[in-house]
Amino acid sequence: MRAPLIAGNWKMNGSSSLVETFGEVLRGAELPRGVDVALMVPFPYLAAARARFPQDVVVGAQTLSDQGAGAFTGDVGGAMLKDLDVGMVLVGHSERRTLFGEDDAAVLARVKAALDVGLTPVLCLGETLEERDAERTEAVVLGQLEAVLDALAPSDRERLVLAYEPVWAIGTGRTASPEQAQQVHAAIRARLVRYAAGLGEAMKVLYGGSMKPDNAAQLLAQPDIDGGLIGGASLKVDDFLAICQSAG
Ligand code: 13P
Repeated sequence: MRAPLIAGNWKMNGSSSLVETFGEVLRGAELPRGVDVALMVPFPYLAAARARFPQDVVVGAQTLSDQGAGAFTGDVGGAMLKDLDVGMVLVGHSERRTLFGEDDAAVLARVKAALDVGLTPVLCLGETLEERDAERTEAVVLGQLEAVLDALAPSDRERLVLAYEPVWAIGTGRTASPEQAQQVHAAIRARLVRYAAGLGEAMKVLYGGSMKPDNAAQLLAQPDIDGGLIGGASLKVDDFLAICQSAG
């Protein structure tokens, strides 16, 4: 059984006071049993988030360097994240791919850098509207997946979490329908099974893209959707908690 995972991605949003608010509310809230919860906060707030959030909430980062350490001004290495007790890191988010020019090779290097230090990479996959309209959704998403999995040892593949985030649904308020999302999730899982039956069974595949309290339950009810990666709604603690509850 795959435990559901609800992960918030604050992107370049938040403040010390938002960390305090989340810490206070999450410590007082009853998180649903059997649901894993994570929050990916900006680098400057990681230490405060780890200190304030309940221990069973995983603190995650939003990217990492593909280098271990050294003269890479402005970059943040995986070992530093581990040092702050960070547990997960997003890799290949569509905003990194498009705004920061991270191609499949750059994404793979970051996945390896995360695995090297024992962080769980959350590998993000997704097609643009143009690609969907051209009926290339599965080719694009599975291509992004294979670019990473083909280059990893079987024992490392098992350490990933996946997130399907259609680019056209991110921050647009236009969510994929449960059927549209399930179709892509099923294709991802079928491809995982080709690597190993156990991989298809065990790997969590999250959905992201305008997931909100009022559409979460329907999406999470799909057989191959194991949780959510939530942007905008993860900045409001009540909305985030409501989504966590709908996964329970
Ligand atoms: P929104 O939930 O704001 O659409 O963002 C989704 C996302 O990109 C999470 O990584």
